[in-house]
Amino acid sequence: MKKLFHLLMLAILFTGCTMATGENSKTNGNYEPLTTKVPTRPSGQKDVLGLTTPKIETVRVGFIGLGMRGPGAVSRFTHIPGVEIVALCDLYPERVEKSQAILEKAGLPAAAGYSGEEESWKELCQRDDIDLVYIATDWKRHADMMIYAMEQGKHVACEVPAAMTLEEIWAVIETSERTQKHCMQLENCVYDFFELTTLNMAQQGVFGEVLYAEGAYIHQLEEFWGSYESDWRLKYNKNHRGDIYATHGMGPACQLLDIHRGDKMNYLVAVDSKPVSIPNYIKEVRGEDPGDFKNGQNTTTLIKTEKGKTIHIQHDVASPRPYSRMYQLTGTKGFANKYPIQGYALQGSQVDSDVASNHENLNAHSYVPEDVKEALMTKYKHRIHQELEEKAKEVGGHGGMDFIMDYRLIYCLQNGLPLDMDVYDLAEWCSLAPLTELSLENHSAPVIIPDFTRGGWNKIDGFRHAFAD
Ligand SMILES: NC(=O)c1ccc[n+]([C@@H]2O[C@H](COP(=O)([O-])OP(=O)(O)OC[C@H]3O[C@@H](n4cnc5c(N)ncnc54)[C@H](O)[C@@H]3O)[C@@H](O)[C@H]2O)c1
Repeated sequence: MKKLFHLLMLAILFTGCTMATGENSKTNGNYEPLTTKVPTRPSGQKDVLGLTTPKIETVRVGFIGLGMRGPGAVSRFTHIPGVEIVALCDLYPERVEKSQAILEKAGLPAAAGYSGEEESWKELCQRDDIDLVYIATDWKRHADMMIYAMEQGKHVACEVPAAMTLEEIWAVIETSERTQKHCMQLENCVYDFFELTTLNMAQQGVFGEVLYAEGAYIHQLEEFWGSYESDWRLKYNKNHRGDIYATHGMGPACQLLDIHRGDKMNYLVAVDSKPVSIPNYIKEVRGEDPGDFKNGQNTTTLIKTEKGKTIHIQHDVASPRPYSRMYQLTGTKGFANKYPIQGYALQGSQVDSDVASNHENLNAHSYVPEDVKEALMTKYKHRIHQELEEKAKEVGGHGGMDFIMDYRLIYCLQNGLPLDMDVYDLAEWCSLAPLTELSLENHSAPVIIPDFTRGGWNKIDGFRHAFAD
């Protein structure tokens, strides 16, 4: 009996120890989110929230990077009034010449050309007759170029993603704040027709409170891999896990949720599938050894905001899938979706009788009929599209959104208005690359998303585009 009692006591003790160990492992910090360093803002330095700068009647522009993307921008700028294309730069002189031909065709004078050296772009930035430096090079020099251009007294606009590491992101913020120069990321997808119309609907309360948004870059790049200068894009994918091209999904989602204009992103978690298709392509098509290829076939990121909203972002440049930016929102009274079916689902109370005579019969269990969708899109057409849609479709660039982006950038500079996207948007949307990599390398641990405004995220009440009148 005594022996049985001892055995029982030992069993209780053992179970107790196991439970305690389990609890200890939780409280020992295993579930604490990972954090990164937030540099202190130098004393006397001001944020650039809502930054305005003196009006520039004729915006003088210099372009750096004239590969697949750059010449399209040069061409679009020939259609924007109040612009002078002053200088063109690329590593290769023949690429500069190709863009000079665009100017000639448009009946414009030749621009000053810079090429030949890795750092020829610095001479372009040093010119005293340029207001805006427009960058469309590969990802690795974006931050250096933006920082140098701002230090030379220029506003900058840079292709996506404009910065790849947290060090770069903080250095770009620091420079924009110190110089009080505009630093805009050229995120075109926020101007697409369905997205901007839906944003307008959301801002007018059609969906109730928007609680969830999703976005993505799903685009198999196999046919493009061979076309990037010095193979920079495949190399970046080879060396980095994580969502390294998040801005097309993040831009529209963050504008819907008023990120750093009343809400802020608090933390993220990421998971990825193992890389398969791109390593196979390297082996089978290029006949090379893919080595330790890092970027997952599909990377999924979930984000939680301060105001209790969620964002879901995907990256997949490897799989044979239809192109998609996912774009979806769910609100308390309605829903919008772009890929693969573009449509709205709304509670009847959210639809006016001028849009649908039988609106009270609508419910959100299915998409509104096509004629109601068309009527909604007409009623809520954004002012930017009312003014620019025709011209944008004529000039083109991803169906017109690229022209609208460039036009808005110049319009705001000409009118001394805050730009549609500021350096904190750039930081937030680009931060997914380093922060998802950190999460993935730590068993999908939650990672704190820094407040890049350093305390100013609640100063502006809602995201809105600025207009001169
Ligand atoms: N927003 C969009 O829809 C969209 C679409 C395509 C590409 N992009 C972005 O545009 C950028 C450029 O992409 P791309 O497809 O044109 O790549 P690309 O490789 O075709 O072109 C890059 C160009 O930059 C030049 N370059 C590199 N280093 C330079 C230097 N030191 N000085 C001057 N020129 C230099 C190269 O010679 C090349 O001509 C990337 O950031 C990419 O992600 C955005």
